[in-house]
Amino acid sequence: MQITINGQSKDVAVQDNTLLIEVIRDQLRLTGTHNGCDTTQCGCCTVLLNQEAVKSCTMLARQAEGASIQTIEGLAGEHLHPVQEAFSQEHGLQCGYCTPGMIMSTVYLLQRHPQPTDAQIKEGLAGNICRCTGYVNIIAAVKSAAQKIQEAKV
Ligand code: FES
Ligand code: FES
Repeated sequence: MQITINGQSKDVAVQDNTLLIEVIRDQLRLTGTHNGCDTTQCGCCTVLLNQEAVKSCTMLARQAEGASIQTIEGLAGEHLHPVQEAFSQEHGLQCGYCTPGMIMSTVYLLQRHPQPTDAQIKEGLAGNICRCTGYVNIIAAVKSAAQKIQEAKV
């Protein structure tokens, strides 16, 4: 089947039970998308599928046929994406295992709520679990990213 991943069209061989995360990590070697639980709980596997956040451990690859997928590897251009920059500056990560998923969910959140309230941030990241940071710095990072994106538009 064909998918577009980070702007590049790819032909991948899948079986009916192949998961999207298996295509991303094992076939395409985009290992920034992590498998933390395999059961739709942790959000480490979050990618954008046609601009919407999805958990790639919970989707069959065939469900993504013809879709455009963005992973953490496709976010930065010449410079880090503002959300990546904000997580780094605000110390929104420690081990980094959850971070790609947090960042992809944040990108999706800020598309819908460019200036999110605390409640919207908590709701937007409810499907992403971090075992290290305690979330305070993650929320600060989301707010900082929102500010950076606003400033870049002016
Ligand atoms: S690996 Fe997909 S939600 Fe945890
Ligand atoms: S930074 Fe370690 S799990 Fe989130």
